[in-house]
Amino acid sequence: MCGIVGYVGKSKAAPIILDGLKRLEYRGYDSAGVAVLGQDGFKLAKQTGRVEGLIQKAAPSTLPGSCGIGHTRWATHGGVTNENAHPHLSSDGKIALIHNGVIENYAAIKKFLLSKGYTFASETDTEVLTNLIAYHYEKEGDPADGGSRLLESVRKTLFHVEGTYGICVLCSDCPRELVAARKGSPLILGVGQDELVVASDVAALVSRTQNVVYLKDGELVGIRDNAFEISTINDTDVSPVIDKVTWQVQDAELGDYAHFMEKEIFEQPQALENAMRGRFAEDGSTANFGGLNLSANELRATSRLMFCACGTAMFAGLVTEHLVERFARIPVECDHASEFRYRNTPLFSNTLFFVISQSGETIDTLAAMREAQRKGFKVLAINNVVGSTIAREADGGIYQHAGPEIGVASTKAFTSQLMIGAMLALYLGRIRDMSFRDGVEIVKALKAAPDLVREALQQADHIKQIAQRYAQVSDMLFLGRLELFPIAAEGALKLKEISYIHAEAYPAAEMKHGPIALINADCPSVFLVPNNELFNKVVSSMQEIKARGGPIIAITTDDADLPEGLADDVITIPACHEAVLPIVATIPLQLFSYYVAVERGCDVDKPRNLAKSVTVE
Ligand code: F6R
Repeated sequence: MCGIVGYVGKSKAAPIILDGLKRLEYRGYDSAGVAVLGQDGFKLAKQTGRVEGLIQKAAPSTLPGSCGIGHTRWATHGGVTNENAHPHLSSDGKIALIHNGVIENYAAIKKFLLSKGYTFASETDTEVLTNLIAYHYEKEGDPADGGSRLLESVRKTLFHVEGTYGICVLCSDCPRELVAARKGSPLILGVGQDELVVASDVAALVSRTQNVVYLKDGELVGIRDNAFEISTINDTDVSPVIDKVTWQVQDAELGDYAHFMEKEIFEQPQALENAMRGRFAEDGSTANFGGLNLSANELRATSRLMFCACGTAMFAGLVTEHLVERFARIPVECDHASEFRYRNTPLFSNTLFFVISQSGETIDTLAAMREAQRKGFKVLAINNVVGSTIAREADGGIYQHAGPEIGVASTKAFTSQLMIGAMLALYLGRIRDMSFRDGVEIVKALKAAPDLVREALQQADHIKQIAQRYAQVSDMLFLGRLELFPIAAEGALKLKEISYIHAEAYPAAEMKHGPIALINADCPSVFLVPNNELFNKVVSSMQEIKARGGPIIAITTDDADLPEGLADDVITIPACHEAVLPIVATIPLQLFSYYVAVERGCDVDKPRNLAKSVTVE
């Protein structure tokens, strides 16, 4: 939510910042802005709409200077207007600031600043930061120890601030200086050749450098020319740890695809291979996860698993619940991370607590993790972004290695989480009662998953034709049973978020307990109906829909014998092991929602009102 970029170096700042903003646009795309500090003070350009529009307006050549900041916004406080777009300037014109997060006590700070004569040009919470920094900058003067006046003003300001922030600050008195700070919103410092870049995501700086410092909550970085220093809000010095980013800038580029979502759907075989790489034991009967930092004995003693996550990641937890209960016979609970923190969930001491988060920055998931840690639990994270806040604060975990996911609607990160969930269920099963033979069978099945997904992807054209025919409906139902119910829910979520068609998911047999009232010729149902022990039951549910004139799309396995004419459209996926079926069954649902959205002319990668990585509660 909101992307921020700051630059101090020898090159022109504006083109680098605007390029960074384009790469961060998935974090928010209501409006965008850039401020560059040149010899004549600040040059500022900001407007509603996409970064591309800003680039057209603010031709980089009209923004001279090699020190600047830029922002792409996902509105929280204040509507989508030019005035509310960042950067914001203090009313004395000295301070320029960009912000990702929410300032909860902004009203009280604003009242104070108004009493001191500061004025406000926007409805945002952010503007109080700008003016409060200006206030401290004016009041305090130069620090006695020769340190940076700007840095100290930012530090004093943050002392009074409640809420979350990732900020970059410039001061018109300090032409080669930038101060950045974070609490609850991500911020990374890129240490390049003769330049320093600050951004909310590696994607915005990887074209400049692969050397990065992941700032921690409560830290500030003061940049002057080519040098930087990191300290805490309480003024304790921090020794920086420079990490190396493992992916290249091309990994986050579109190539020949029309959309990132399409690219990421087709990247899934590779993402699944990456999730498995190096994780199977030599005897071929189990998986291993050294990153959990737990011994086999500790894992054996586990009497319960808890998964907390949001959205799509939550559905990965729900599928994993089925597999862990089946393979390892351990009771599992899944909760929405946003709910967990406010419930009185009884947790037993030998509960293994997991959070699942692609981005590793989702604030609800992070808050659930911190709450569990506060209660004394070790929290393990299934996560795709190395160096993300959740990855760093977790007590152990499993990296997905799915590569950067840019499309706002999660695709490859989801199936990679399903793969890790299946491997985890196998691992826990083999530590307990699962036989060597059953383990070998599951390992074999998991290794086959990338090829099965390739096969499912070959249905793309067929699915596109079906999608085109259903693209104008207003409502749809998605129905599946057991581990395919969360997959149906994921199918409904995908359709909702990118095509704005109302969609709901139910366990197939639940349909007759209410939702069946919706059924008519205008409300199609998508059934997940593989050839398994519940095949006949699901077929009966389909008959009930058919009898009421509801159109049916069936996603079935190639070994199933669906009654002739029962479904209006059939999509066939390869028959596979139950550990892999949720992964393979996801593919047609992703393709269906993608092609429906394209047919409706929707902005697939940047759906309205959404942003990737939800860093506000
Ligand atoms: C849906 C989607 C979201 C995310 C959710 C959690 O396509 O992407 O529902 O799954 O916001 O995000 P992460 O996994 O980054 O914590």
